[in-house]
Amino acid sequence: MSGFGNHFASEAIPGALPVGRNSPQRPAFGLYAEQLSGTAFTAPRHENRRSWLYRLRPSASHPPFARYDGAKLFVPGTDPEPLAPNRLRWSPIADPARGTDLIDGLVTMMANRDPADLEGVAVHLYAANADMNDRAFFNADGEMLFVPQAGRLTLLTELGRINLAPGQIALIPRGIRFRALLPDGAARGYVAENHGALFRLPELGPIGSNGLANPRDFETPVAWFEDEDRPFTLIQKHLGSLWQTTLDHSPLDVVAWHGNLTPWRYDMSRFNTIGSVSFDHPDPSIFTLLTSPSDVPGRANADFVIFPPRWSVAEDTFRPPWFHRNVMSEAMGLIHGAYDAKAEGFVPGGLSLHNMMAGHGPDVVSWRGASTAELKPQKIADTLAFMVESCWPYRPTRFALDHAQPDYDAAWADFPKARLPE
Ligand SMILES: [Fe+2]
Repeated sequence: MSGFGNHFASEAIPGALPVGRNSPQRPAFGLYAEQLSGTAFTAPRHENRRSWLYRLRPSASHPPFARYDGAKLFVPGTDPEPLAPNRLRWSPIADPARGTDLIDGLVTMMANRDPADLEGVAVHLYAANADMNDRAFFNADGEMLFVPQAGRLTLLTELGRINLAPGQIALIPRGIRFRALLPDGAARGYVAENHGALFRLPELGPIGSNGLANPRDFETPVAWFEDEDRPFTLIQKHLGSLWQTTLDHSPLDVVAWHGNLTPWRYDMSRFNTIGSVSFDHPDPSIFTLLTSPSDVPGRANADFVIFPPRWSVAEDTFRPPWFHRNVMSEAMGLIHGAYDAKAEGFVPGGLSLHNMMAGHGPDVVSWRGASTAELKPQKIADTLAFMVESCWPYRPTRFALDHAQPDYDAAWADFPKARLPE
């Protein structure tokens, strides 16, 4: 099933989905009807997201949650000390210990705003090597955008199964329970956790009715469920900390569902990249795949922006990103290849942070190369970088500050001084 934010209906067993009403007196087979809201009940119709789930047991049926401290680097809190206004960059995180699943393998690198504000975004890395066999997770603090960098993920969710490979992204809405299997035995990647307004497609303005990410390319799973009566640990992230309880059954027991609050998958090779065909740069907002607006028009709580393979044809133009200082704050990751503004140090699986007003742009090697290149049409081929841009400056975690590359500022050392006429 495809389409962004469409209303879908799916049943894993014929007759499980009620017709014409959401909560019949007696749902088929004794299933329990449950509404999952992604927006306030009275959100405008075009913003309103909710799904109805028909399940083997009500999700309300669980013992109390107690603190979970198994994921040592996931949501440990940002560093409370005054943050130096320095540019930061990270190499990929180390391989985890054997037996580390996706949840225990999450490492929070930076965040802004308290989840209780219903604003802000956190950026996590993950490195895992074990399946979540007896554990499921949900995030009460926000939706999670998975960006695999190496190794596939199989996301088993309440609403169905998603097979996810590097080059694709998947979104798990706030509250949706899921567990992750690793078909390749190990996996690495990024997660953008959005506490604010739900990600949606950006407006297209003068671009018109097509382009960037097209709605029909977002794939939604079909109903699928586990009828397993065995112990499952259910972990949730709630107000920035982790909690666990134990169920005597799989929480992935939704036999049928309908609605427009769904997980989805998107293949970034389907992104219709648009750029200059004359000279100069459009602002990087031209590469926006998803946006989460703030209350200020045009100022995103979070933009998910990608830099995919594309042709570079602009004449009399420095083609890589030019130097800039922005009011927005930028977290960048690299899925594969090289990024055209950095010659080295920014590698697949790594991360960088340029917070509000931090001057940045090409390093000296990239600047020299692009300033002297003969400007023929050029395919920027092996590359896929992304940015999680936010109007709220990021605060790195203590782990992130302790593991930043020590010499990132050197990327902008040794630029020759401009020569004025004598
Ligand atoms: Fe930038």
